Amino acid sequence: MYVCSCFGITEKQVREHAESGACTPRQIAGACKAGTDCGSCVRRIQALLGRGACPRRESPATLGPAGMPAVASASGPQVAEAA
Ligand code: FES
Repeated sequence: MYVCSCFGITEKQVREHAESGACTPRQIAGACKAGTDCGSCVRRIQALLGRGACPRRESPATLGPAGMPAVASASGPQVAEAA
């Protein structure tokens, strides 16, 4: 079934690009141009990606500490010890 009629891109093709690492509509567009003309298919592409088409899609559990807000230090402000 066609997802993007402007470029004749099928659901299967979107899934294949997703399996190759295209995890966002923008990356899908970069791979096959789907969504770059009228844009009416972007929501369908998003829905496909959201249904697990992309195996590398990150879940909150896989986010590293860099994506998290800094936790206040338990030791408080650093104070130089008097010698
Ligand atoms: S249907 Fe995909 S850009 Fe128009």
